[in-house]
Amino acid sequence: MRPIAEPYKVKTVEPIRLLTRAERERAMAAAGYNTFLLKSEDVYIDLLTDSGTNAMSDRQWAAMMMGDEAYAGARSFFKMESAVREIYGFNYMVPTHQGRGAEHLISRILIRPGHVIPGNMYFTTTRVHQELQGGTFIDVVIDEAHDPLSQHPFKGNVDIYKLTEVIEKHGAENIPYVNVACTVNLAGGQPVSMTNLKAVRELCDTFGIRVWCDATRAVENAFFIKEREHGYADKSVRSILLEMMSHFDGCTMSAKKDCLVNIGGFLAMNDESMLQAAREQVVIFEGMPTYGGLAGRDMEAIARGIFEMVDDAYIRHRIHQVRYLGSQLMNHGIPVVTPIGGHAVFLDAKRFLPHLTQEDYPAQTLAAALYIDSGVRAMERGVVSAGRDPHTGTNRKPSLELVRLTIPRRVYSDRHMDVVAWSVGELFRHREDIAGLRMTYEPPALRFFTARFEPVSVLVAV
Ligand code: F0G
Repeated sequence: MRPIAEPYKVKTVEPIRLLTRAERERAMAAAGYNTFLLKSEDVYIDLLTDSGTNAMSDRQWAAMMMGDEAYAGARSFFKMESAVREIYGFNYMVPTHQGRGAEHLISRILIRPGHVIPGNMYFTTTRVHQELQGGTFIDVVIDEAHDPLSQHPFKGNVDIYKLTEVIEKHGAENIPYVNVACTVNLAGGQPVSMTNLKAVRELCDTFGIRVWCDATRAVENAFFIKEREHGYADKSVRSILLEMMSHFDGCTMSAKKDCLVNIGGFLAMNDESMLQAAREQVVIFEGMPTYGGLAGRDMEAIARGIFEMVDDAYIRHRIHQVRYLGSQLMNHGIPVVTPIGGHAVFLDAKRFLPHLTQEDYPAQTLAAALYIDSGVRAMERGVVSAGRDPHTGTNRKPSLELVRLTIPRRVYSDRHMDVVAWSVGELFRHREDIAGLRMTYEPPALRFFTARFEPVSVLVAV
């Protein structure tokens, strides 16, 4: 196959360094075997997240100089609003400091105690805000999403049968909205098809239920539709994104992903009364409705990033780089979630470390072992991230126990991906020598960010 190179050239570099193995062992122990608690300086290749870790373009940096830092009515706000309107198609938006700020607002506006919110697999921050308002998340993703081996092209799809059942059981009046994430992060960055979005919309229309999108990685979703769904091959990603969004009443957005910036988010909608409600809330929790927790320069960078993200050459390379890492790992025989998703390659820790049970935190263990082997930082997405059931207090045991190798946008070269693949391959060869972890500190909410662990014996005997 003809290689696809980065559709940009490097103008500024940020040096990175690899600590010695002894230093990495000490750093991992000091961080309580939680990669979130490492110092970034001690990390060689940082695949913790694609959130806010993007490289901005020269145009975005230039736009930042044009930031209007007025407290109210800033020019930069209107630029961002107009970019959202043109590319996402929503009439109105309020900026938020990041995605969870928008999730907080929509949850406060629409959710009341006793409500249920169906969605295509949970996401940590989304669910926690639903629960804080007294709501309960119900998973209506298709079964294939929970199967790391299923080859379904749209593993993020909503199961229309499950959704119908939830509506019939709880009643439309107890469902403030259906939340559809495109793509589904914890399923492996898996997309939702246009056909499925239409079907969800039609079903919800018959019951008068709103449909809300978590559009955090919707551009990546649009690219998969172009590649995989009949009738979209010749359409631009930009037009596919607009069509996707036309099936929603609004969206929550973490601009730190698709929009190619380091901070920001928004809540967008078509309905004027929703805008009114959002403005009432944003002023309490984020800031004035024309900045919502962002500096004018941040809004400038987002406004520009929104146009860059739908450039076909950019998004094509983005998805191909993730796939490049994934296919190298598959060539080594390493168990990964397939098809490879949009923002990350997910190692299947259950199959990687079959000698460990979920009580040994296999994904947490594997992420710690990877850092010790090569200074590569990954993230646990398994039993630690899933947390405890707020009603019973017991550990949730998700079927997916994964380590996420998340690729920041426009930051690393394919050669960095080679280094990562090699290290994961080393660990796989010595997998039987990797022992589990026990938790020594557990915070009350979103525990994966700050929990601490210790090895049950020597972690990696490699
Ligand atoms: N929705 C999805 C699908 C996300 O992946 C995230 C963040 C959020 C909402 C919340 O946005 O961080 O801007 O407040 N995901 C990051 C990640 C943290 O690493 O996957 P935020």
